[in-house]
Amino acid sequence: MPTIHFGFTAGDVVLVTGAGSGIGRATALRAAELGLRVAAWDLDGDAAAATVARVGEAGGTALAVRADVSAAADIAAGFAETRSRLGAVRYLVNNAGPASSGEYEFDEAVRISLGSVRRMTGTWLSGGVPEGAALVNVASVAGNIVGTASDWYCAVKAGIAGYTRHLAAYRSQEVRANAVAPGMVDTPRLAGFAQSDIGQRTLQRIPLGRMAEPDDIAYAILFLLSPLASYVNGTVLPIDGGWTVTQ
Ligand SMILES: NC(=O)c1ccc[n+]([C@@H]2O[C@H](COP(=O)([O-])OP(=O)(O)OC[C@H]3O[C@@H](n4cnc5c(N)ncnc54)[C@H](O)[C@@H]3O)[C@@H](O)[C@H]2O)c1
Repeated sequence: MPTIHFGFTAGDVVLVTGAGSGIGRATALRAAELGLRVAAWDLDGDAAAATVARVGEAGGTALAVRADVSAAADIAAGFAETRSRLGAVRYLVNNAGPASSGEYEFDEAVRISLGSVRRMTGTWLSGGVPEGAALVNVASVAGNIVGTASDWYCAVKAGIAGYTRHLAAYRSQEVRANAVAPGMVDTPRLAGFAQSDIGQRTLQRIPLGRMAEPDDIAYAILFLLSPLASYVNGTVLPIDGGWTVTQ
């Protein structure tokens, strides 16, 4: 694979939530390869530690933080630990969120999935952020095109896209804000899905004919964070192999 230069300053800090698995882990690993130091947050402390171990084996620097992003106290403690161990956070990736198959009461789902993104971002910005700060929120094609069986999932992902546009329009002096809208991504939460009847039917409608790999999403996130994307603000980028243009 060719060497990729995204224009990041070596040693800058990126905070990734849900970094213990799937898209979050891939983003943490690829970010470290690009010279960023990574704060790998996850509800599952062991999973975060495993990501950090992999970063270390590859010669990078990362810090594991066990934090539930739906809990205000965990967010405050997590930022205090991250800032004291790694310094100021220039980049934030709000990736953590429950699977659409989770059975949640609607208001509670909004609180833990969308409220967490707002609280993470608000806490980060309230501490003051370095110049050139950028964030990427992880929405979903379920937030702009596809309706899901669970009432809360597509509503929350649309909300994340809307909150991203608010940040882009009204907080642009502090942060450049974008979102990604992945389609079907091959992560643990979709294990076996591609083999199911509905998975097969969905795959047939994806022009590229496959699910995304977590790296497909990670590299798009890193591009949107990077100085290469310095004029990209307020977008919601579908990363879906063309699935939604066939709908
Ligand atoms: N997999 C897909 O097809 C797909 C498609 C579109 C969007 N997404 C979105 O991408 C994001 C990541 O999904 P994934 O497929 O990589 O999932 P995953 O299940 O592989 O990983 C999610 C990680 O987030 C952590 N996490 C969950 N809730 C948390 C919380 N409250 N606080 C801190 N950490 C928490 C989990 O412990 C886990 O390590 C989610 O927001 C999801 O909605 C996924």
